[in-house]
Amino acid sequence: MAYLNDHYLKLKAGYLFPEIARRVRAFTEANPDAARRLIRCGIGDVTEPLPQAVVQALHRAVDEMAIRESFKGYGPEQGYDWLRHAIAQHDFRDRGIDIADDEVFVSDGSKCDCGNILDILGHQNRLAISDPVYPVYVDTNVMAGHTGEADAHGAYAGITYLPCTPANGFIPEPPQGAVDVIYLCSPNNPTGAAASRAQLEAWVNYALQHRAIILFDAAYEAYIQDPSLPHSIYEIPGARECAIEFRSFSKSGGFTGVRCALTVVPKSLRAAGADGEMRPLHPLWLRRMTTKFNGVSYLVQRAAEALYSADGRSQVAALVSHYMGNAQVLREGATQAGLKVYGGTNAPYIWVATPPGVTSWAAFDRILGTANVVITPGSGFGSMGEGYFRISSFNSRANAVEVAARLQSLRW
Ligand code: MLT
Repeated sequence: MAYLNDHYLKLKAGYLFPEIARRVRAFTEANPDAARRLIRCGIGDVTEPLPQAVVQALHRAVDEMAIRESFKGYGPEQGYDWLRHAIAQHDFRDRGIDIADDEVFVSDGSKCDCGNILDILGHQNRLAISDPVYPVYVDTNVMAGHTGEADAHGAYAGITYLPCTPANGFIPEPPQGAVDVIYLCSPNNPTGAAASRAQLEAWVNYALQHRAIILFDAAYEAYIQDPSLPHSIYEIPGARECAIEFRSFSKSGGFTGVRCALTVVPKSLRAAGADGEMRPLHPLWLRRMTTKFNGVSYLVQRAAEALYSADGRSQVAALVSHYMGNAQVLREGATQAGLKVYGGTNAPYIWVATPPGVTSWAAFDRILGTANVVITPGSGFGSMGEGYFRISSFNSRANAVEVAARLQSLRW
């Protein structure tokens, strides 16, 4: 008899975004007229075409693959040297951050890396996870058996939740007690809040003191507008000894359908073996990548490299500024609709408090049913997300303007 992984049975509902898609499908099948005017601001999926520099790089790479002399088979599992170099140089060393080329691991997505990183961490680690936050952190730990059951609010036993509320500007403080692995996401998905240098310093100091590891998700760093805010945890002294950073080209380069991301594992980062000896994690992650992954395709890595060319960089800046323009339109629309609005200034997400007495899913149903707009219910990001909803600014400007207008015509 084969046994399944019982830990999956602890997961409460379907993964948030497929669940939203299922509800939207049911609604549009029942309401074909509403379906025609539907605007999707739910999942943070980019809408604008790829930067021209990327398109040209893809064409060139296809031509290389078409002839024997320049054809490529398997590449290095951890990424081609030229892409690792471009990333380490432009994203880190050019900004005064000490990251070596071979500390960068290229992958097909941050979602996968956030889950896969658990392969090299012990099962006994005490976890701290922001709430609300990207649901992958909690769900992958549930799947790996690192939690108990969920309570009535969906909070799992064994996780220290770090509440993100208006009172702390949606940036959690380090807990009183000791934890071993901490998930931070800045700019935060879903609240749009970005941590200051002082806030990240507090976390790095905490991690160094407790010999904990910070898993720092910087997937939205390209959206930071305030020049005083750190883009990388490694801007904080000591972070090389206590942090892993995840980055993605999905939202910066419009790669949600192309698939390319990176994880930085500094060689100076150590964790304890069962014997208590502190050992580096870098060789473990390399071993994991080379054993379980065959690398991102040559075409896609050439596409990612093109994002660092002069043209690529200005085209990425234009994309980011387009989506941030939408964020401003949506912020203003929701504010004029009388709603309390957060985020949307250093991140592509607007975090909106529901009117008194309206739950997140009730707001979802109301906005879908009356305005024919798909948003994301805040409770899908954790129990502290109840009473909020998220609007994604990944859309055309015309749609953002239309959504802003429809929000104002909503009667709660
Ligand atoms: C989101 O909408 O939160 C993101 O698009 C999900 C993701 O990046 O996987």
